[in-house]
Amino acid sequence: MRDQRPGEKMHLGAFFHPTGNHVAAWLHPDSQIDAGTNFRHYAEITRTAERGKFDLMFVADAVATRDGKLAALSRWPQYMAYFDPLTLLPALAAVTSHIGLCATATTSYNEPYHIARKFASLDHISGGRAGWNVVTSSNVSEAWNFGREQHFEHGERYDRAVEFVDVVKGLWDSWDDDAFLRDRASGRYFDPTKLHALNHKGEHFSVRGPLNVARPPQGHPVLFQAGSSDTGREVAARFAEGVFTPQHTLAGAQDFYRDLKGRMARYGRPPEALKVMPGLNAIVGQTKKEAEEKHRFLQEKIHPDVGLEVLSNQLGNFDLSEYDLDGPLPDIDESHWALASQSSTRNIIRWSKEEGLTIRQIYQRFAGARGQRTLIGSPVEIVDNMEEWFRGYGVDGFLFHPSHLPGGLNDFVELVVPELQNRGLFRVEYAGTTLRENMDLDRPKSRYES
Ligand SMILES: Cc1cc2nc3c(=O)[nH]c(=O)nc-3n(C[C@H](O)[C@H](O)[C@H](O)COP(=O)(O)O)c2cc1C
Repeated sequence: MRDQRPGEKMHLGAFFHPTGNHVAAWLHPDSQIDAGTNFRHYAEITRTAERGKFDLMFVADAVATRDGKLAALSRWPQYMAYFDPLTLLPALAAVTSHIGLCATATTSYNEPYHIARKFASLDHISGGRAGWNVVTSSNVSEAWNFGREQHFEHGERYDRAVEFVDVVKGLWDSWDDDAFLRDRASGRYFDPTKLHALNHKGEHFSVRGPLNVARPPQGHPVLFQAGSSDTGREVAARFAEGVFTPQHTLAGAQDFYRDLKGRMARYGRPPEALKVMPGLNAIVGQTKKEAEEKHRFLQEKIHPDVGLEVLSNQLGNFDLSEYDLDGPLPDIDESHWALASQSSTRNIIRWSKEEGLTIRQIYQRFAGARGQRTLIGSPVEIVDNMEEWFRGYGVDGFLFHPSHLPGGLNDFVELVVPELQNRGLFRVEYAGTTLRENMDLDRPKSRYES
């Protein structure tokens, strides 16, 4: 195992849920209580991740507050009030120099022109550090803010996403890299032969173009995708360059890795053009005991109303309030969660059926880590596990979800990153200045380049 992937480095992303990943993060004294709308907080944690040489930071998004039982939501304020990512990230670009700045934007409730323009702008402002996590939304409350009664069904929203991304990429190629002459002597600002109208007319979108922003420094900002269903994987194989996915076992991660990379040839893409970065909810202490105490401290703060609410949301709002918390999860018809995230829901059902977990145990496992894999231990134990997954071709890196912010991130940067670096598994300095360079991804050619 040790001699697998010699010299190769893993890639690390930091997922910044406002107060942290854990549902009770805001109750932790080491979390920033008003994180969602505190710019200094984001500036601090992004700089900390940059100090830890992370490839990227990532923020999630939805275009709605969360819906559900207000009594539970009032105890779990995550994503009720927080910054619009594409307003936040350009501000973070000004206070950082190397770390990638990645945000979610949905293809269900946006227009491709807007998204192409915003991410191209972010890429210019940050000097080539922009990344877009392409999501299709899974939340009906987003539909209600955009003139729809229902969300698009699973297949249709991915279908729309594929066309959406194609249009955005086309718009990013509107100007050739050398289109702008800016030549005072000849009086010509740009070369008109290097400007291209897209003239796209498809099933979902009709966009003439061209884009009113020059070609981004990275050619195209880096594209991420986080769907793990069969359709989600196919879409990722087609265009994603980074994939976020909840994987709980090495064997499962290896299957996912092989399957996803195996699909890429159909789209003429080599496997190394996509980095698989499963979620990692790592809780580290100087010793395992200390780490376990940190975890227990947060787990004990999960209010049962909140635990049930998180679980019920994940199960398509199936009401669990009448069931015994210490009894089994009832059989839930697939129609309930057809619109929800399928990969995470399947994990929950597997924990119930195969491991026999009770409702309380399931919500503790799921809500605590928000569906991501949890690792609790000393730096050596955590890195042993990360190394095994990396060398075993289960991952190309990880998307680290700090349990609470800034405390959980500080611990990781101070304890885990040096151990990864000592083993040669992670960079000591940034190799490049763009996100693409740091992620070992090629700069895409323009579609108009011969
Ligand atoms: C790490 C991670 C981050 C995600 N971020 C968002 C997000 O910000 N907004 C969103 O609507 N969905 C987000 N999702 C959900 C995915 O985009 C996708 O809808 C979900 O994983 C279900 O896909 P599937 O049905 O193909 O498995 C995220 C998923 C993961 C694993």
